[in-house]
Parts: sequence; C-alpha cells; structure tokens
Amino acid sequence: MEKFMCRAIELAKKGEGFCHPNPLVGAVIVKDGRIIGEGYHARYGDLHAERNAIKSLTEPAAGATLYCTLEPCCHTGKQPPCTEAIIENGIKKVVVGSDDPNELVRGKGFEILENAGIEVVRHFMKEECDALNDIFFHYISKKTPYVIMKYAMTADGKIATETGKSKWITNEASRAEVQRLRHRCMGIMAGIGTVLADDPMLNCRLEGGKDPIRIIADSSLRIPLDSQICKTAKEQRTIVVSAVKNEDVSRIRELEAVGVEVINCYDPNIHGVDLRCLMRKLGEMKIDSILLEGGGTLNASALKYGIVNEVRAFVGSKIFAGKGRFPVEGTGIDEVEDSYRLKLKDIERFGDDVMLTYRREVDRCLQA
Ligand SMILES: NC(=O)c1ccc[n+]([C@@H]2O[C@H](COP(=O)([O-])OP(=O)(O)OC[C@H]3O[C@@H](n4cnc5c(N)ncnc54)[C@H](OP(=O)(O)O)[C@@H]3O)[C@@H](O)[C@H]2O)c1
Repeated sequence: MEKFMCRAIELAKKGEGFCHPNPLVGAVIVKDGRIIGEGYHARYGDLHAERNAIKSLTEPAAGATLYCTLEPCCHTGKQPPCTEAIIENGIKKVVVGSDDPNELVRGKGFEILENAGIEVVRHFMKEECDALNDIFFHYISKKTPYVIMKYAMTADGKIATETGKSKWITNEASRAEVQRLRHRCMGIMAGIGTVLADDPMLNCRLEGGKDPIRIIADSSLRIPLDSQICKTAKEQRTIVVSAVKNEDVSRIRELEAVGVEVINCYDPNIHGVDLRCLMRKLGEMKIDSILLEGGGTLNASALKYGIVNEVRAFVGSKIFAGKGRFPVEGTGIDEVEDSYRLKLKDIERFGDDVMLTYRREVDRCLQA
C-alpha cells in the first residue's frame, strides 16, 4: 500500500543530516490495515529503522507486514542485523523500496528473509525510495563524497557584481533552503577567493541544524587568521587544503593553533588543489557529502575534474547587467557539443526565485 511506504519515506527524512555516512531509512509495521509500529534511522550508530519500528510496537508483530525504504541489513555493524529482529518478531511479509548496494548486504538481506519463509516484495516505490539516498549510493560505491555544486545567480547569470558584491541575490526563502542543504551535507567547500571576498561563516543557521565541516581550497595558505572561519575553527571543524610542494611549516602551526586542520593535495601537473586527491582523502575521513559553494574559479575546476554529482542553481529575480562574476569561470569552450551535460531533476519555486536541480551526466570531464 502506497500510503504506508509514503509514511516510511517521510520518517526516513527525519534522519537527514544526522546519520552520515549511513543511509536514510524509514520503516512502518502494519497489521490489519493499521500502523502498529514505526521508526527511522535517527543518528549514526543508533538503532536502525526496522529495530526502532519494532521497539515502538503497540501490539505483537506476528503476522504483520513491514514496509521499509531500504533492504534490511543482515550484518553486524554498530547494531545487530535487522533481519534477525524481523524473523524473531514473526513478521510475515516485507515490502522494500531500494536495494542496498553495500557489499555486506546487497541481496543477502532479502535471501535471509525468504529462507525464513517471509514473503518479500522488492522495488515497491523504488524511485521515491532511491531519491532518499543519492548521497549514500554514491559514497558506498565510489568511497568519495557526493558533491552538490550550489550557486545563487541573478536572472542574467551573475553570482556577484564586478566589484565582488553578492549579498543578496536571492530571497529569504531561497536562503533558508540553502541552510537546509548545509544541514543535509556533511561538508561545505569554498575557494580562498570567496573567503577573501566575503569573509563567510559557512555554518548552518537552521534551528536545530548541524554545522557542516568547512573545507577551504587554499593552495598557499592565504586564509587570514582574523577571518570568521579561523576565528571559529575551534567550534566548527575546518580543513584548509594546501597545494604546494614545500610547505611552510610555521604557517601550518599558526593555523593549527587556532583549530584549523591543514591537509595537502599537491600534484605538480595541476594548478591549485588536486581535487580528486582531496575527494579520496575526504572519503577516507568518512565525509560522504559536500555542498560546494565555491566561486566560479573553484566551480570550474570541480567540473573539469569530474567531482560534481549534482547542481543546484538558485535563480534570483534580479538583473545586475554589465560585467560581473559567473557561477563557472575558468577556460570556456568553443563548441557547444563540448558542454558539460546536465539532466534536470526538479524545479522548485521560492517566491519569485527558483531552484533548478540537475544531475551531472558523465561526459567531457577528465576521467580518473
Ligand atoms: N552567489 C554565489 O552563489 C557565490 C558563491 C560563492 C562565491 N561567490 C562570489 O564569487 C567571488 C569569488 O570567486 P572566485 O572565483 O574568486 O573564488 P573561489 O572559486 O572561491 O576561489 C578561487 C581560488 O581558490 C583557490 N584554489 C585552490 N585550488 C583550486 C582549484 N583546484 N581550482 C580552482 N581554484 C582553486 C585558488 O587560489 P590559490 O591559487 O591561492 O589556492 C583560486 O584563486 C566572490 O565575489 C563571491 O562573492 C558567489
């Protein structure tokens, strides 16, 4: 029944921002057409959705149907396998949306349930369930963060005036959506150009929201010690990424003293931070998602090196005219067929502004 899976999806979303790098999962237990238990994965390391649903049961689950957005796990991680709890509680049917691509689970969860005599329905509202976990599906298979390139531009395509002013291109409702994205993503990345121009905080101002880990691409560690970012690095984790062969150790010590972590991603053949090396390192740090709020220079490199998975273009209802800064700068193309290709996923309206959500199609970026 769709309404039960819709409820499971709604529950799964409550975990947004808190269960990285785990997936968002919701579960609903139904008996005689009534919900008798429901739950979601609320926080990394806590109970999974199925066990939370079982914990909340108002009556025994024997003979009931479980609706779950993702294939139940069958391995012991931070929590015991959910398949065990499902079997022990006498659930007779399990309806699932997404397959779990995690190699520890992939198909085995279903197999264990079926071997225990439970009827399993797969791929029920799969598209809607899959949409919950773009980040998880990417991270679990590629081991690098899912990158969302976000920018706010005027109706004539500028992200700042010629003098570098960008406050504010979009309205309050659009900016509130950006705060939700900051809460949703584990990291936020900008280039040193944006830090020097805007002195941003790059925090999350959503009530009850979670601050993302700040990542600044800054080859020669130009970030000022009196920038908002350095001044708050002890409260909000901050990684500054350098890209020089011979590092200035005293400068690193200075930054570390104010709470900044410095990592190096140097490649003699690349100007600036080696972004693919950076993505591997961030993946190893278990950072599964990044909101890229770079200026046009960093955005251009991010596209060129193929690290962008999604684009969120906010279009404000203003025109700057004349010259200005663009969302993607760098070296442009001569031929239209050489464009970076996007697939439109969604259009959302915020008053007079719109947000266009695109998925990146793999094409002309440099392949790893
Ligand atoms: N409206 C919006 O959504 C929005 C968002 C962000 C920024 N902005 C505006 O954009 C302007 C700043 O743009 P920007 O292009 O100067 O800044 P940026 O893209 O944030 O930073 C560029 C700098 O990052 C460093 N960098 C390190 N590794 C890099 C790499 N692999 N590729 C590219 N750059 C790398 C380079 O400096 P080093 O060589 O020293 O490392 C480079 O000059 C400001 O006016 C700001 O207000 C607007």
